[in-house]
Amino acid sequence: MRYQPLSAATYREHRARFRQAMEKGGLAVFHSNDIMPTSADGTMPFKQAADIMYLTGIDQEETILLIFPDAMDPKDREILFVRETSELIAIWEGAKFTQKEAAELSGIPTVLWTTAYEATIKRLMPQAQLLYLNSNEHLRQSNEVETREERKNKELIAQYPLHGLRRSAPIMHRIRSRKTREEVEQIKRAIAITGKAFERVCGFVRPGVKEYEIEAEITHEFIRNGSRGHAYTPILGSGYNACVLHYITNDAVCHDGDVILMDFGCEYGGYASDLTRSIPVNGTFTPRQRDVYNAVLRVQKEATALLRPGVMLADYHKEVGRIMEGELIGLGLLDKADVAKQDPERPLYKKYFMHGTSHFLGLDVHDVGLWTEMIQPDMVFTVEPGIYIREEKLGIRIENNILTTRDNPIDLFDAIPREVEEIEALMAASRKKAKA
Ligand code: GLY
Ligand code: MN
Ligand code: MN
Repeated sequence: MRYQPLSAATYREHRARFRQAMEKGGLAVFHSNDIMPTSADGTMPFKQAADIMYLTGIDQEETILLIFPDAMDPKDREILFVRETSELIAIWEGAKFTQKEAAELSGIPTVLWTTAYEATIKRLMPQAQLLYLNSNEHLRQSNEVETREERKNKELIAQYPLHGLRRSAPIMHRIRSRKTREEVEQIKRAIAITGKAFERVCGFVRPGVKEYEIEAEITHEFIRNGSRGHAYTPILGSGYNACVLHYITNDAVCHDGDVILMDFGCEYGGYASDLTRSIPVNGTFTPRQRDVYNAVLRVQKEATALLRPGVMLADYHKEVGRIMEGELIGLGLLDKADVAKQDPERPLYKKYFMHGTSHFLGLDVHDVGLWTEMIQPDMVFTVEPGIYIREEKLGIRIENNILTTRDNPIDLFDAIPREVEEIEALMAASRKKAKA
């Protein structure tokens, strides 16, 4: 394993959180993701379902978890199923988890092969009153492809139509939104690697380099540090491309005088980091670029300070919009009189800042969380304001990852430079080093 997993005690704690939210007589079933096909005999790299990762740490296909707190036999209260391994599999695919390894990693004493799942469910369902099934209830999910979990859910519902049904997703969103100590440590590890990659590209960016060459530098730095790669498709957008919010082609040449917006973050042990920095291709911001940059930075700092327990995310986003409005007036992009008579449902700042300021971060980069409840301690959010001026071919976003506490929020990106002077100094220092 190239990464340090969380401890069995933490996975136990995660399952205890789920268990505590269950009703009496409930049996919960969680499935791993499929290995997705490409074409011919090709497959995509395996990506574990975040909920299985959270509850067990088992990063392997064909994993199933049962949580059944009221099972008569204590051995049935948590059961983990892992893909049966064999010498043939070991030769062709490499070693899979043994039952003992899976038990040690997850802290679940009862580990069976996945082939035993059907018979086990048949044995346990008569004892259960309620079936907890999981599904993707992320606010922005829009998948057409049926997941393994959805397929297996349909089978269970057809087999046991008279059991009461409960949704696991709201419980998962609640418990995953408040990070345990080791989860925060894992996110910090991901951030540390992302920070190294940022420093590396500060020494690499110059007029004439291609955006994908920068991407390659980042990928190299990620993988050599034990990450499996990007937590999401990176955005390397120079000049006008920075104004294309989901620009991922990354195939243009970086020109002298342009700013490049770089939105990238590595995964580590399944956890995401999510950074954006916007830096001058030639190492020095123009006065206009500097003004826009500092406006975004002020919004980011003010927004960060607002991430406190008790605040509603909808109110937070409104307030950040108001702060941004003031900055856009200061930059001469909006007119104060026009803003005074704007339709509050369609605020003018959205012309230059058209996306949200923050999202939850964790096992998923756009992590699940409680959007309609108050912010609580131990949540991790991004703070990522931006100003995109298409007519000036200039887009600037700055994105940090923030941990909420009972008190002041903690900036987990504290060690990653973001002030104009720091970025220019970093770029100058690495140019000097390269010349020496
Ligand atoms: N990189 C995705 C985001 O910033 O939300
Ligand atoms: Mn983000
Ligand atoms: Mn991002």
